[in-house]
Amino acid sequence: MLNKMTSFKQMVLVFMLIELYTSYGALALSMDYYRMSCPFAEMIVRMTVNQALRRDQTLAGPLLRLHFHDCFVQGCDASVLIDSTEGNIAEKDSPANIILRGYEVIDQAKQIIENRCPGVVSCADIVAISARDAVVWAGGPFYPVLQGRRDGSRSKIEDTINLPPPNFNSTALISMFGRHGFTIQDLVALSGGHTIGVARCASFKDRLSNSDSTMNTNLVRMASMQCNAGDDNTTMNLDMTSTSFDNSYFRALQRGYGLLTSDETLFMDDQTRGFVDIYAMNQARWFYDFQSAMLKMGSIDVKEGDDGNVRLNCHRLNY
Ligand code: HEM
Repeated sequence: MLNKMTSFKQMVLVFMLIELYTSYGALALSMDYYRMSCPFAEMIVRMTVNQALRRDQTLAGPLLRLHFHDCFVQGCDASVLIDSTEGNIAEKDSPANIILRGYEVIDQAKQIIENRCPGVVSCADIVAISARDAVVWAGGPFYPVLQGRRDGSRSKIEDTINLPPPNFNSTALISMFGRHGFTIQDLVALSGGHTIGVARCASFKDRLSNSDSTMNTNLVRMASMQCNAGDDNTTMNLDMTSTSFDNSYFRALQRGYGLLTSDETLFMDDQTRGFVDIYAMNQARWFYDFQSAMLKMGSIDVKEGDDGNVRLNCHRLNY
């Protein structure tokens, strides 16, 4: 009962936030963008995502990460979905995107939507809605996804320099996220996305060989065993409860169990530790901050009108 009350209050707060954003014209997006043109779009995405996650629950992490990697490079314009061509190496072939997955889920939703309302719903909106539905599936908070993003036409490997590498410290993360208008609190709340999913040994093995003193010795032992038995592409869970969206990620940071430097630094640094402690103690508070930070993330550099279009096939440009 208490939980229901808390989530109801959270929803009201998130709707108030949206109202505030839209009334100031800060967002060109709206909640009922497809109401007339494709009223079932959101429902189709939800059904497709749920069906995919019933088959493979480890897809929740990749679907959330797709949206993050889309928005941080060229804005939320589905540039991450574009395939490389002879003259162009696209974002998706960058080392930073090596384990990105879930493209087929987006394709499936897009195909069903295209059959119903051709040329109307952007790939970028499908990516944004899928991320939210993956979070909800894993037990995280529901938040409304504003719609109306247009798809972009540029996807270049060199632009993925805008994605944070796993060895960044708090100061570097604060600065990179700050460039997109995120506060320190947003950064910590969003990093909680690592409550689901995995990372490859390549992303944290330097911590093992450098005997990183901020890493719990048990984690060093487990990770060394796992990585020594495999190769750079062997994966480890980012969080012990890696298929459920909960605040155990933050409690793990307090005990030195952050797998990536960029995770553990949030607890080691005075600028960010306070938020880690709050979220470790209070999941509802984290959920609320995560919802509003996702709302912000989903509106990074969105394209309007002729700045973009609706790709018919998410993998390639229309012409
Ligand atoms: C704060 C800066 C961040 C850094 C440095 C970072 C870095 C990484 C790295 C290195 C991986 C593993 C990739 C690999 O080993 O190839 C990863 C996975 C992941 N990241 Fe982040 N990330 C950050 C922020 C975020 C944010 C903001 C979100 C979403 C809100 C997110 C969601 C995820 C998810 C869900 C996975 C697991 C993907 C899977 O299971 O395939 N990350 N991240």
